[in-house]
Amino acid sequence: MENKVKRIGVLTSGGDAPGMNAAVRAVVRTALTQGIECVGIRRGWNGLINSDFVRMDSASVSHIIDKGGTILYTARSKEFMTEEGRDQALATCKLLGLDGIVAIGGDGTFRGALALSRQAAAAGSSLSVVGIPATIDNDIGCSHYTIGFDTACNTAIECIDKLRDTMQSHERCSVVEVMGRHAGYLALYVGIAVGATAVLIPEREVDFENDVVEKIRRARLAGTTHYMVVVAEGAGSAIDIGKRIHAEVGIDPRVTVLGHIQRGGSPTARDRETASRMGYEAVLSLVENRGNRIIAIRDGHTLDLDMEEALAMTKTFQMDRYQVLEALTNNGGPRIL
Ligand code: F6P
Repeated sequence: MENKVKRIGVLTSGGDAPGMNAAVRAVVRTALTQGIECVGIRRGWNGLINSDFVRMDSASVSHIIDKGGTILYTARSKEFMTEEGRDQALATCKLLGLDGIVAIGGDGTFRGALALSRQAAAAGSSLSVVGIPATIDNDIGCSHYTIGFDTACNTAIECIDKLRDTMQSHERCSVVEVMGRHAGYLALYVGIAVGATAVLIPEREVDFENDVVEKIRRARLAGTTHYMVVVAEGAGSAIDIGKRIHAEVGIDPRVTVLGHIQRGGSPTARDRETASRMGYEAVLSLVENRGNRIIAIRDGHTLDLDMEEALAMTKTFQMDRYQVLEALTNNGGPRIL
């Protein structure tokens, strides 16, 4: 069968995530292997609106698999959310002769991708858009995993391990806020991995007395003199939680907001490997003309799903992991879940 796809664009959009570069590399190299030209669209969807692009050859993606951030830059485009902005983007696609776009990012990126694909179809264009989930939040409904999550977990763990050293020496309580937007995956995985005293996540209503005060008390009764409370940003502000601990337990916590440090750094093996697989699958899905798709990891396997259906999917939060945390840090207290 003749390959109808001659030229594609690749872009990164939304918050950056370690492993985005590995995904760009995989898209470019797979495309070239298939005899397809590749254009890097810079600064997210804005690049399509502003004709901000760079031609990609094999060497242009050399030595980036280990780099955090994204060589294509990224942005959250307000203009692309308008019909006029997308019309402009479609005009750029036409001018450059793009048959497909691979968009690497999170939820907002995919909502933009879906709107673009619908507008393209309405205008009689055969442009296909494929999404690759990349966000440290791991909050994409259709995929069990998103590029960047593992690296962000490891970065947060490294920081918290360091905090623990000083908290232990001074016999203090540390309250650490981790990212995750509205999701608690990062906080939960990190909390388990550092053996946190308490973890607060948005998926579970916080009962301050049971979830924080009682856990600190039990830890103290079990002989501990330092405590680690991990707060997902979606569950509240670490500063407020710290003040409340001070008021209700009478200890003086130190608060750390890890912030954007969690988005940087060299991607882990898991993120490099996942990004490589997803980039490869994204190009194959364009070559095999499967239309507008999102690449997902489900039960360890890579597959492409219809974009509209994929965006309607929700993920059941892994409450079993919270039970693990409870079992390991409950210090003999009652089973809470
Ligand atoms: O979606 C990734 C993320 O890092 C979230 O965890 C966080 O809430 C948000 O982006 C921060 O966005 P910004 O880079 O605009 O500060």
